[in-house]
Amino acid sequence: MNRFETWICGSPFWRYVTRRQLLPWILEGSELGEHVLELGAGLGAATEELRSRAARVTSLEYDHAFAAKLGARAAAASVAVIQGDAATLPFSNGAFSSAIAILMLHHLPSNELQDRAFAEIWRVLRPGGVFLAFEILDGWLHRVGHTRSTFVPVTPASAFARLTTAGFSKVTVDFRRGGFRIRALRARES
Ligand SMILES: C[S@@+](CC[C@H](N)C(=O)[O-])C[C@H]1O[C@@H](n2cnc3c(N)ncnc32)[C@H](O)[C@@H]1O
Repeated sequence: MNRFETWICGSPFWRYVTRRQLLPWILEGSELGEHVLELGAGLGAATEELRSRAARVTSLEYDHAFAAKLGARAAAASVAVIQGDAATLPFSNGAFSSAIAILMLHHLPSNELQDRAFAEIWRVLRPGGVFLAFEILDGWLHRVGHTRSTFVPVTPASAFARLTTAGFSKVTVDFRRGGFRIRALRARES
């Protein structure tokens, strides 16, 4: 993350937008269940709101400094913060009822690592669990905004095939000004 992204993600403005606009849209029509995995939690813009909607939240964050800061803040809200990589999740199979990644996927430096993360997310979800993501579209503005950072956009057209290959079913993609949401289910075992 560059300084601009760090500043935005830690701002009261982003927290407000996440809580009031983004999360309600991403979560629309989905049940989080009792234990949510938040991937790429950053400085926690969504974390407390998720905690208010689920009994347990585990927040995974790659950056050591962000994880330490969020861990100090989130302890009061009974959120477990773990430093780790979304492409090699340090959790057992079927540990979570849902998983959510807000603006995290484009920070994985290759399509291969993103696909590995999709497979890992499927693995740690229980049958019937839901994966939700919010991403931005490719474009010059976002490329400039990610100068000296990582930006490997997930193309919406590729989401269905990639998530289906990872094991998910009922993959949907919806657009909204500024980005798109992905919803994918780990099917119940029959
Ligand atoms: C644009 S920020 C979004 C943070 C937060 N979700 C938000 O909306 O404020 C992306 C976050 O993903 C984290 N990240 C990058 N690579 C990751 C990985 N491999 N595993 C987990 N988190 C990662 C970054 O450190 C950063 O905090």
